[in-house]
Amino acid sequence: MTGQPMVKAEGVHKSYGAAHILRGIDLEVQNGEVFCLVGPSGSGKSTFLRCINHLERVDGGRLSVDGQLVGYRQKGDKLYELKDSEVAVQRRDIGMVFQRFNLFPHMTALGNVMEAPLQVKGETKAVARERAERLLDRVGLGDKMGNYPSQLSGGQQQRVAIARALAMEPKLMLFDEPTSALDPELVGDVLDVMRDLAESGMTMIVVTHEMGFAREVGDSLVFMDGGVVVESGNPRDVLGNPQHDRTKAFLSKVL
Ligand SMILES: Nc1ncnc2c1ncn2[C@@H]1O[C@H](COP(=O)(O)OP(=O)(O)OP(=O)(O)O)[C@@H](O)[C@H]1O
Ligand SMILES: [Mg+2]
Repeated sequence: MTGQPMVKAEGVHKSYGAAHILRGIDLEVQNGEVFCLVGPSGSGKSTFLRCINHLERVDGGRLSVDGQLVGYRQKGDKLYELKDSEVAVQRRDIGMVFQRFNLFPHMTALGNVMEAPLQVKGETKAVARERAERLLDRVGLGDKMGNYPSQLSGGQQQRVAIARALAMEPKLMLFDEPTSALDPELVGDVLDVMRDLAESGMTMIVVTHEMGFAREVGDSLVFMDGGVVVESGNPRDVLGNPQHDRTKAFLSKVL
């Protein structure tokens, strides 16, 4: 523990044209924490995750990861935008797993997991392969390494996507509804992998509707609505005893 939060958002704003989506997000994610983000559709959860790895640019406020401003450098009291190459370096440390797995269809599971370290880090094949095999083993796919995505179930593909993100040895993992596109019987295996990752100490931000997972594995939970944090705290407290009407209304629909 360094004491410094892994993610710190201070008054983060983001608009798309005239649509003001994030309206001043303040939150801190501590090192090693599993931080769950819940809220209704359109509340800005994905937008916020995308700002963290600078797939979207923040319009106002400050957002930092591991003490570094995302996408900007500060000189005196002025902010300067980083070059694309500098943004790419920041993004390497952040793994992202989406609802849709977006695996490369023409590569095997092993090839998918090896690809980024080969292309982005310039690793040797032997090193990338050794790690990819270890990671696929870890997500329970040691016997499927040679399968193409079309030869894997949705849950298996999502576990390959998690292994692929881990292959870059990130210090932070972002999950955007990783199980919501899966058939119900495939959800458990993916959540098990995420639980194992949490137990290994990975810092994770998880957008999810899996309230059971949030309650059991989450260290913190934030309820977002309309681009602001409405309520936050220990997941068991927020889910068990919500304080705000909007939180209560949302939970009554998903619990
Ligand atoms: N690239 C974009 N251009 C314009 N509007 C966008 C863009 N991306 C998102 N939005 C809008 O921003 C709002 C927030 O979207 P976002 O995807 O962050 O919501 P969400 O909380 O992740 O919802 P869901 O639970 O449905 O995934 C929505 O109204 C959406 O239409
Ligand atoms: Mg979303």
